[in-house]
Amino acid sequence: MTSRPVIDDLSSFWMPFTANRQFKAAPRLLESAKGMYYRSTDGREVLDGCAGLWCVNAGHSRDEIVAAITQQLSTLDFAPTFQMGHPLAFEAATKVAELMPAGLDRIFFTNSGSESVDTALKIALAYHRSRGEAQRTRLIGRERGYHGVGFGGISVGGIAPNRKTFSGALLPSVDHLPHTHSLEHNAFSKGQPAWGAHLAEELERIVTLHDASTIAAVIVEPVAGSTGVLIPPQGYLQKLREICTKHGILLIFDEVITGFGRLGKATASEYFGVTPDLITMAKAINNASIPMGAVAASRTIHDTVVNSGAQGAIELFHGYTYSAHPAAAAAAVATLDLYRREGLFERAASLAPTFEAAAHSLRDAKHVKDVRNLGMVAGIELESRDGAPGARAYEAFVKCFEAGVLVRFTGDILAFSPPLIINEEQIAHIFKTVRDVLATVQ
Ligand SMILES: Cc1ncc(COP(=O)(O)O)c(C=O)c1O
Repeated sequence: MTSRPVIDDLSSFWMPFTANRQFKAAPRLLESAKGMYYRSTDGREVLDGCAGLWCVNAGHSRDEIVAAITQQLSTLDFAPTFQMGHPLAFEAATKVAELMPAGLDRIFFTNSGSESVDTALKIALAYHRSRGEAQRTRLIGRERGYHGVGFGGISVGGIAPNRKTFSGALLPSVDHLPHTHSLEHNAFSKGQPAWGAHLAEELERIVTLHDASTIAAVIVEPVAGSTGVLIPPQGYLQKLREICTKHGILLIFDEVITGFGRLGKATASEYFGVTPDLITMAKAINNASIPMGAVAASRTIHDTVVNSGAQGAIELFHGYTYSAHPAAAAAAVATLDLYRREGLFERAASLAPTFEAAAHSLRDAKHVKDVRNLGMVAGIELESRDGAPGARAYEAFVKCFEAGVLVRFTGDILAFSPPLIINEEQIAHIFKTVRDVLATVQ
């Protein structure tokens, strides 16, 4: 492998979701990646415990995906999809649709999870307007929810620091369900916690407050990832579905993290047996090789919007220059074929018990106050240091990286979501490293 000279000026890149000054004083730079491993610029192998950012489900730099992208770029580098098309866009949409729950087979392409969320919220409003209920504009999110960083996403999202700076400019007419996290009732739950389904009934309170006729949609992550892995209580999502259906409110599942095998099924909707009206996705849709996202809409929603426009008129005034970009579409087709050929969703399902046992083996590790998991996702919550929330998990994250394991942290929660090609030895190695590191963390 040829090494590039290490960059010595880090000042121009204003890094996202990063403590820029702290990072640039002691940078962690990745140079290449293959399979389960990154290689850092100082030549160390780093086992990927979080699939990059919950997105590289088939492992890094897969030959089939690289070849599909390379070939596509030399054949058709870009094609507009406004009043034009290219065959791969339609093929990619068909392949995504095949993995969605029955009936959610109309696919709108975006370039990220944030764009998928804003697109889904807009489709929800367009749907109600098309059926003569234009007054349904209120959107319901959930505390601690993460739906990306667009103004729509942060408005329905519930992570306080993501909203604070922008609080004067959030969408009007938004309300929030309570989050479902309770260490008092659910600490160290394996899989779905038993307590908390009743929290979905808070939606009835919100409906009473605002009246159903003003509410367009409810959006939740089936498993909340970025806030620190919150697993839905047993029966919770089913209840949300029932209440939404009863009041004519659309249910949106934000599956940007859970889509494409993370829980051992193509979607969390399939895993939980709860079908929403819209699904947002991104990340693993093409193994994160080229930016891409999508929204799956029910046929009813699609047909209502599309059939309500006059012939020859654009039905939905929304779209991105790079919607269904040829390289991203080629990558999606290659990725979805690869998932199927290698049975990676089934592999995730069969590895989940090993992953669960390994995560919960840290129950008695230093500083640990909760372990929670579902499918190939786990969260380990640490006691916070007095007066310095997040500092302990940050130290653990840095020390894990130095010890050759990449994990995520958010607040004082460590999050794990490895590529689905991981093996049992590597699972054991991740959690052993974390245990050893925690023993050294103050
Ligand atoms: C549930 C969820 N929605 C939306 C997003 C935003 O995706 P992106 O960063 O691609 O805009 C994320 C990112 O982690 C996510 O986890």
